[in-house]
Amino acid sequence: MVANVQTLLDEGLAALAATSDAQELENAKARYIGKEGAITALLRQLGALPPEEKKTFGATVNQAKQAFEAALQARRDALTADKLAKQLAAEALDVTLPGRGQPSGGLHPVTLVQQRIEALFRSIGFDVADGPEIENDFHNFEALNIPKDHPARAMADTFYIEGEAGGEPLVLRTHTSPIQVRYMLNNQPPIKIVAPGRVYRVDSDATHSPMFHQMEGLWVDEGVSFADLKSVIVDFLRRFFERDDLQVRFRPSFFPFTEPSAEIDVLGERGWLEVGGCGMVHPNVLKNVGIDAEKYTGFAFGIGLDRFAMLYYGVNDLRLFFENDLSFLGQFE
Ligand code: FA5
Ligand code: MG
Repeated sequence: MVANVQTLLDEGLAALAATSDAQELENAKARYIGKEGAITALLRQLGALPPEEKKTFGATVNQAKQAFEAALQARRDALTADKLAKQLAAEALDVTLPGRGQPSGGLHPVTLVQQRIEALFRSIGFDVADGPEIENDFHNFEALNIPKDHPARAMADTFYIEGEAGGEPLVLRTHTSPIQVRYMLNNQPPIKIVAPGRVYRVDSDATHSPMFHQMEGLWVDEGVSFADLKSVIVDFLRRFFERDDLQVRFRPSFFPFTEPSAEIDVLGERGWLEVGGCGMVHPNVLKNVGIDAEKYTGFAFGIGLDRFAMLYYGVNDLRLFFENDLSFLGQFE
C-alpha cells in the first residue's frame, strides 16, 4: 500500500513538471487532489481500514498530499515567472532609441530647377513675370502671329476649355509665350523678364508630358541683336550646368512669333536634347502689342524646365517627375 502511494506521488509530481501553462496545471491538480482526484480517493479509503493501519497509511497519504501541494505551488510560481519573462521579452521597449522624427518634405525637382534659373537671370538684371494658365485665343495664338490654320491650334494638340473670354475661345495655355504679350501690353521697353509656369499639350511619351513647365525669356530694347541672344543663352546654360565646355547648338527652326528662329539643343549623356526655342521677336508681334518695331528689337526664348531637370539630375523619363513617388522625389533635396 505504502509503495503504491509513493508511485502515485511520483506520477503526480511528473505530471506537474510536464505542465506548460496555468490551464494544464489546474487539470493536473484536479486529477490528483481534486474531488475525484487519485490522492483524494486514497484518503476516502481510510475510514474502511483497521485503526492501526489507518494511522500509518493516513500519515503516508497526508505526506504525499502535502508534497504534491508544495510541488503544485512551486510549479505555479515558476509558470507565472516564465510567462512574465516571455511577455517582457516580446513587448521590449527600448526607451533609449532616438525618436523617428517628422519628415519635413521638400521642393519638387522641377521647382528646384525653376528657382535656380530664376536666380541666374535675376543676377543679370531680369525680372520674374507671371500670367494665367487658362488663356484666351488672342494671348496664346493671335497676338503671337500664329495664323488660324496653324497646327498648334488643332483640337489634337491643344486643350480647349468651355466658355470664352473677351469674345475669344479659352485654352489651357500651350506655352508661356502669352506672358510676353501680357507684359508688353502693360510695359514699355526696356523690357527684361523671365516668366515660368505650367503649360498643357496633347502629348505623352518619355520626353513629353501633357502638363509640363516652361520658362519664357524676353529682352526688348534698342539695339538688341541675335548676338545678344546667343551670348545670354550660352552663358546661362554653362552657368546652369556648371560646365564651361557644355556643347550648345542653335538649330534653325520656325516660330510664327520670332524671325529668325532656332531650337536650342544641349549635348547630354544620351545625345542632343532640345531644351527650348528662341528667336528675334517678330515685328508683327511688336505691332500687335503697340511697341515701335522701327525703334526697338528684342529676343525671346521658351525653355522646357522638365527637360532641364532631366539633364541636370540625369533622369531618363520625364513622367517620373509627375508620378509623385516619394522615394523618387525625395532624392533631389
Ligand atoms: C515653344 O513652346 C515656343 N513658345 C518657344 C519659344 C519662345 C520660341 C519664345 C521662340 C521664342 P516648343 O514647342 O519647341 O516651343 O517648346 C519649347 C520647349 O518645351 C521644347 O524645346 C521642350 O524642351 C519643351 N517641351 C515641349 N513640349 C513638351 C512636352 N510635351 N513635355 C515636356 N517638355 C516639352
Ligand atoms: Mg520645339
